[in-house]
Amino acid sequence: MAFEEKIKQLLDKRVEAKMGGGQKRIDSQHSKGKLTARERIDLLLDEGSFEEFDMFVTHNCTNFGMQDKTFLSDGVVTGYGTIDGRLVYVFSQDFTIFGGSLSESFAKKICKVMDQAMKVGAPVIGLNDSGGARIQEGVNSLAGYAEIFERNILASGVIPQISAIFGPCAGGAVYSPALTDFIMMSKENSYMFVTGPKVVKTVTGEDVTESNLGGANVHATKSGVAHFVADNEQEGILLIRKLISYLPSNNLEEAPLTSCSDPIDRLEDTLNSIIPENPNKPYDVKNVISAIVDDGEFLEVHERFAPNLVVGFARFNGMSVGIVANQPNYMAGVLDINASRKGARFVRFCDAFNIPIVTLVDVPGFLPGTGQEYNGIIIHGAKFLFAYGEATVPKVTVTLRKSYGGAHDVMSCKQLRGDINYAWPTAQIAVMGASGATTILYGSELKKIENEEEKTKFIAEKEQEYSDKFANPYDAAKYGYIDDVIEPRNTRFRVIRALQALATKKDNNPMKKHDNIPL
Ligand code: HXC
Repeated sequence: MAFEEKIKQLLDKRVEAKMGGGQKRIDSQHSKGKLTARERIDLLLDEGSFEEFDMFVTHNCTNFGMQDKTFLSDGVVTGYGTIDGRLVYVFSQDFTIFGGSLSESFAKKICKVMDQAMKVGAPVIGLNDSGGARIQEGVNSLAGYAEIFERNILASGVIPQISAIFGPCAGGAVYSPALTDFIMMSKENSYMFVTGPKVVKTVTGEDVTESNLGGANVHATKSGVAHFVADNEQEGILLIRKLISYLPSNNLEEAPLTSCSDPIDRLEDTLNSIIPENPNKPYDVKNVISAIVDDGEFLEVHERFAPNLVVGFARFNGMSVGIVANQPNYMAGVLDINASRKGARFVRFCDAFNIPIVTLVDVPGFLPGTGQEYNGIIIHGAKFLFAYGEATVPKVTVTLRKSYGGAHDVMSCKQLRGDINYAWPTAQIAVMGASGATTILYGSELKKIENEEEKTKFIAEKEQEYSDKFANPYDAAKYGYIDDVIEPRNTRFRVIRALQALATKKDNNPMKKHDNIPL
């Protein structure tokens, strides 16, 4: 073959590969409001940065006449490129080829990018849109999944792993995204479940649609499987780019420092009066977050799951931090099972990737009830406590108002190696609130008082006495559990100073194979 013909052959093959399963199937993909695998990569990566691997790979299956049906790239587009100039590895499942189903060759392509990402220390982003195991390949497909799972597990805590779900993701195939750090789902067209509606109907008799069983809304609010939901694929991809900007490329690096034009000593007067006079009145902790972080920018994770705890990424003077905050606006900011799971996972992610944690505390305690106890609040609460206690990244805590009981200990208290613990003058750090404490401490006296007026007066006096002693930050400050009581409007400056001081912090845990966090 002449040289020019060889070049033409190469170019023709490239064109063929880029057509995936052909124009008809691309049109069908578009008609569902979905982008193709390559269009998604183009949106995700910096323009012109994508370097593709394995474009000429095909499957090796000969069952069911498959030898006569091959497509270049075999249903997944893989390679590397950059996001804001930083290296990332990517795989994007191509629904136009065998419904994006996973063959042995397909799995090998994904494993190749994962292996290289681990060697160079760069994040892996997986864009999922697949009919699951390639049925014609039988157990070879299952083996391929397991090869990917093992890599997901070994890469966990070493490089960030992010999954987007833009189509079907069902059966055991859900477990690769589930093993990654973050899952983003698009509102339309995406679903994740272990068994689909037909199997559910046969086994349990329930009638349920795909979207009610495993759509983005369900996973964002009920199961907590999805960390982010996007209105459409474009928005979802931009969200992934943004998320990457807060993360280091691997566990040996720091997150990128950005330039900050927001003055570090910006005073925020509104904070001096944000806490209501009445301790039972709520306020929105997100207003505190946006008032203190750089330019008010906050990337919330798990926004609609367990909203009684707010977690997400922000920056202080250009430094990436994880924020964990009780939300008095929802269930008074109480800790329950879901909030504990959410908080623990987030704290552990930050700790694994050297991202300092800033904790804002206003917590009345743990949610009581059989629902919580039967479902293991003891274990789940312990998980959150464990996550804070094992974390060695800089930990700065600001107690805004209530910090009661066991929940006080959980929320990054001094004895869980909180590095710098501040409190606002409105803080109340105690075993419990005044009303509960009075009932317990003076139960027998109260029984003896028959006159209702006298009883009310007695309770008010005792509550006042308790509040004077404990409904303030000074009792904790007296023991050094609080390092300083700060003026709320100056919180931004004090937190930045604290983070600067802690930037070189070194702390270690004892050597062990791994811990045994209550799961
Ligand atoms: C091979 C598949 C396939 C699969 C779809 N296709 N799924 N080929 N293996 N798993 C092919 C179809 O034959 C079709 O080929 C093309 O992809 C598009 O599929 P359609 O059915 O036409 O598309 P749509 O109507 O949009 O339905 C999509 C779908 C449906 C919901 C995903 O195809 C489906 O239910 N597929 C089977 C899903 C499944 O049961 N997978 C196995 C799950 S078990 P043509 O040539 O017509 O374009 C599993 C175990 C993993 O995944 C275990 C890991 C441990």
